[in-house]
Amino acid sequence: MSSDNIYDTKTICYHWISAAIILTLWVVGQNIDSFEKGDPRVIVRSIHITLGLILALVFVIRVNWRIRGGVKLPQPDGVQGKITQGTHHLLYALMGLTILIGIAAVWVRGDNIFNVIKIPAFDPTDEDLRENVVDIHGFFANSLLILAGGHALLAIWHHRILKDGILKRMWPTLK
Ligand code: HEM
Ligand code: HEM
Repeated sequence: MSSDNIYDTKTICYHWISAAIILTLWVVGQNIDSFEKGDPRVIVRSIHITLGLILALVFVIRVNWRIRGGVKLPQPDGVQGKITQGTHHLLYALMGLTILIGIAAVWVRGDNIFNVIKIPAFDPTDEDLRENVVDIHGFFANSLLILAGGHALLAIWHHRILKDGILKRMWPTLK
């Protein structure tokens, strides 16, 4: 595969680091409540929040690189290309929104990060507000996972069935 048909190293690293963190965040996020109240739950939630903030940093660096220097590869003409580009934009939008609402959830609920950093709740009397923000965060997280899952399946279909090298653009060492 010629080097003008693969993404640059930074784009590839940001893509796979983000995908790995997002998957981990989702699995941890889904399971926070299954840990015992008190220290175990505080620790798992703190891991989720810390990893979420790392993702926020990677996301800002990634979008900045995408706008300023990252390789942009051509997409097919017509409807197919528009759908692909639309999906990529939606994936970026869902990543950004899930992260922002996650940060809002910390601010609204108040939190205790690793029993070290205490963040006061925005309004401790408003239980509904806290529940709603976490639910919206969960909704965007699930939507992101579903769209990313479809996107991954399509990439595998391109690789296994169409054999058109699309997956290799993001994974150049793949045989
Ligand atoms: C794309 C990245 C993320 C994914 C996929 C994700 C996923 C999830 C999921 C699935 C839940 C459970 C929602 C529910 O119970 O309805 C959750 C809860 C939560 N997330 Fe995230 N999250 C992400 C980023 C973040 C970030 C950046 C923060 C904050 C810095 C954050 C803070 C929280 C908090 C505070 C909760 C509530 C925990 C609880 O109810 O005990 N998340 N997240
Ligand atoms: C949470 C998981 C994922 C997210 C959020 C995500 C997001 C994205 C985004 C936003 C792009 C566009 C890159 C750009 O041009 O700026 C992209 C490209 C790509 N992704 Fe993912 N991705 C995820 C997982 C995966 C997985 C698991 C695979 C493969 C099995 C995959 C394969 C690809 C490929 C091949 C491209 C390049 C497509 C092209 O050149 O047209 N992605 N991904």
